[in-house]
Amino acid sequence: MSSLLIRNIKTLVQAETNPRPLVKGADMAVLPAINNAFLLIENDRIASFGAMERCPDRADQIVDAAGRMVFPSWCDSHTHLVFAASREEEFVDRIRGLTYEEIAQRGGGILNSARRLQQTSEDDLFESALLRLHEVIGYGTGAIEIKSGYGLTLESELKMLRVVKRLKAVSPIPIKATFLGAHAVPAEYKERRNDYIDLIINDMMPKVVEENLAEYCDVFCDRGFYTVAETDRILKAAARFGLKAKIHANELDYSGGVQVGVANGAISVDHLEYTGDAEIAALLEGGTLPTLLPSCAFFLGIPFAPARKMIDAGLPVVLATDFNPGSSPSGRMSLVVSLACLKMNMLPEEAINAATINGARAMELEARFGSIAVGKVANVFISTPIPSLAYLPYAFGSNLVDAVILQGKMWPSSRQ
Ligand code: NIG
Ligand code: FE
Repeated sequence: MSSLLIRNIKTLVQAETNPRPLVKGADMAVLPAINNAFLLIENDRIASFGAMERCPDRADQIVDAAGRMVFPSWCDSHTHLVFAASREEEFVDRIRGLTYEEIAQRGGGILNSARRLQQTSEDDLFESALLRLHEVIGYGTGAIEIKSGYGLTLESELKMLRVVKRLKAVSPIPIKATFLGAHAVPAEYKERRNDYIDLIINDMMPKVVEENLAEYCDVFCDRGFYTVAETDRILKAAARFGLKAKIHANELDYSGGVQVGVANGAISVDHLEYTGDAEIAALLEGGTLPTLLPSCAFFLGIPFAPARKMIDAGLPVVLATDFNPGSSPSGRMSLVVSLACLKMNMLPEEAINAATINGARAMELEARFGSIAVGKVANVFISTPIPSLAYLPYAFGSNLVDAVILQGKMWPSSRQ
């Protein structure tokens, strides 16, 4: 057995005696915390924590955290971390006046990324994705979901998901994989969309399941992408293959995506920039989580999702980065937390709950990650010296992560 003791913690954030599976509504503003605390880790698990008066005096390794806070690692439940190339030329096109949808209609956007990915080897994709994974771990991310969706052919979708499987094998943090064959309709299927959906259902899904390449199935249900009826068909097929739904919805319009996601028992519906009373009512009826991606809204200059309205209605909001080359080229969860506060009027406590325990729930990892509780996996980060909790979202440009601990070991020493 090896033990690691962190002493003199200014504030131990999200320390739960009775772990909550998720937090919703008014409870989102409640963030359990202990001032002047210790945290004891044994092997890869949290063994105990509490006030410094009760601090054990022995451990294999002792870290003095004076002036610094300890947080549970971020849980980033929506990313497209595997991609072949950046898309800054489209960023400049948007500065010059084109919209995201206009770029997509001209064959840019997701189809641009798909062309590049189809030409890139599995090994090269793996190497670049591993660098990005290490980058976001350094920002404090301790659990992550990764989607396919830049393949759009049988071969290339499988290639992407095999890369994710290889990442899982070497990653010090848990990874959940999502099959997103229905991210865009390839140009050659433009006039025969159903043939592409047949390909997704009849060829891609069986292979994905046979090779055990994904836990979830995603569809981009929005104006100009997949319709409600198409989404419904794909999600019903996915369910037959044992793949649960986590979908893109209502980024570009009131698409009906939220309702079709809820009707299919989706774990989460993500984006939700276009959310009104009907969508909120549907979310309140089902158990589907609303996942908001404010760095995407920020980067594309589209409306921010109405987080305040959702929380005030009693919903459990989740925050994630959407890290991808087209609409959110950043995997930094602390920036997402800042934007949630600045642009969606979420309180720091609400944003941190949304980015930790609720993110874990959106990946079905809440029993082992997302908070500091006895028995949970010891994935935490130590901040730099900061005056208060609110300083974290306030200082939006600073990197306030001083040290990362994964599975009870200081990272990068735990790096493979
Ligand atoms: O979540 N909205 C759909 N998919 C991604 C963007 C993909 C891209 O532009 O490459 C998203 O924003
Ligand atoms: Fe996305």
